[in-house]
Amino acid sequence: DGFPAEKLFNQGYSYTYDDVIFLPHYIDFPTDAVNLSTKLSRNVPLSIPWVSSPMDTVTESYMASAMAALGGIGIIHSNVTPSEQADMIRSVKSRRVPILSSPVFKAPDSRIADEFDSHDVPFVLVTQSGTQKTKLLGYVAKSDWLGLKDKEIKLGEVMHTDANVCVPWDYDLTQIDEKLKEEGRGFVVVEKEGGEVVDAVTKEEVERLKGYPKLGKGTVGSDGRWMVGAAIGTRESDKERLEQLVKAGVDVIVLDSSQGNSVYQVEMIKYVKQAYPELDVVGGNVVTMSQAQNLIKAGVDGLRVGMGSGSICTTQEVCAVGRGQATAVYKVSSIASQSGIPVIADGGISFSGHIVKALVLGASTVMMGSFLAGSTEAPGAYEYDEKKKCRVKKYRGMGSLEAMTKGSDQRYLGDTAKLKIAQGVVGAVADKGSVLKLVPYTMQAVKQGFQDLGASSLQSAHDLLRSKTLRLEVRTAAAQVEGGVHGLTSHEKKAF
Ligand code: XMP
Repeated sequence: DGFPAEKLFNQGYSYTYDDVIFLPHYIDFPTDAVNLSTKLSRNVPLSIPWVSSPMDTVTESYMASAMAALGGIGIIHSNVTPSEQADMIRSVKSRRVPILSSPVFKAPDSRIADEFDSHDVPFVLVTQSGTQKTKLLGYVAKSDWLGLKDKEIKLGEVMHTDANVCVPWDYDLTQIDEKLKEEGRGFVVVEKEGGEVVDAVTKEEVERLKGYPKLGKGTVGSDGRWMVGAAIGTRESDKERLEQLVKAGVDVIVLDSSQGNSVYQVEMIKYVKQAYPELDVVGGNVVTMSQAQNLIKAGVDGLRVGMGSGSICTTQEVCAVGRGQATAVYKVSSIASQSGIPVIADGGISFSGHIVKALVLGASTVMMGSFLAGSTEAPGAYEYDEKKKCRVKKYRGMGSLEAMTKGSDQRYLGDTAKLKIAQGVVGAVADKGSVLKLVPYTMQAVKQGFQDLGASSLQSAHDLLRSKTLRLEVRTAAAQVEGGVHGLTSHEKKAF
């Protein structure tokens, strides 16, 4: 019944996730027995197979913190200066709760902040430098300011200097919650070991997080801190960028290129492995077995798969190069698994079913852009879309003219070209709420898919696929219509 993957993917067709469907197998365990722990790359273990894409509308420190808190990992984009990218790594490394409240800082000799007038700022933190980089001296709450007659007074003269407002950086949500309750406070200030301020955490934020599924210990590295990755390119200047990222504590490097099988990338892989033997390096993107083999030979610890399958990508249309993502993931995984190299299925994920397909076809993790864009943790502010009647956030391809103008042209080899050609578009995606809710619910759906296939882990799914026990078929266009919602004039889209 049906086809083994080996036969289906060797017929000369390029299949996307939607083209193929698994036939159900035998269930002999409950959904909660499915364990999706995995590896991003040779030495980076994860408890869930989720990776956020290095795009400037997807992964900065807030998203990377949330991914690590969930047991996945975020890859910080490189469309910023090396020091800004390194600061984002430090910001993730100095947190234990996935909250980013970016409080207002002022120096003690500043006059009372106009922030209280113009914005909804509940308190101002006072430090010697007026920035986050020095020790907390005190704070002034909006209620204090409202009660003051002399609004010209200096902050240093009216601030509270109560040291009890501070908690150490490694306090988790429960500890912060207890502290807020014990002292009846509206917020606490999280401090690093040396006294530098990490962030402020308010009671409202803690209550918001408590409403989401409970977090485990997350993805913690050998330094005892959350793990985080970063993207770099393959120019000479990227070696300097890499040095700053390593100093900031980056755990894994992703070489960001739409066509990774190049002399530039091979040389960069060799350089990274020789200069930082302890650091994992992910190569890509690749979609064929021979591309993968070249990068494996050069020494990669992980491979990123996908070319033109992303929701904002136009590479296949513009350059006539790429591959259907289901075929690409299956082909590359079959060669990478022989060398024990984990594969990241990058792009083209819109539903939990796509995640099941990517993982069962051989990937160890899925990397997402649009699925995570538009969430609370994605960079950028929400805007209201009058036509769609919903809040949206910007989501853009890193090969769009807009992103390349900001610096990402190297990924699309546009840096040496005189004329820049876009390989991506700029758009917007609807507000998805927090990834701290989105990801656990989606993972539950993925586990149900694994259960239907009789696979209790990634390894067992891959074994069932390779032993030809799991069978697939190609869906005709009519079967794809049948497999989606059809025949209704309207329907509820919410899954949870
Ligand atoms: P999704 O489908 O998750 O895809 O939104 C995210 C992935 O798409 C890739 N990417 C691009 N590909 N032009 C492209 O051809 C672009 O402008 C572009 N920007 C991102 C990237 O691999 C990302 O992870």
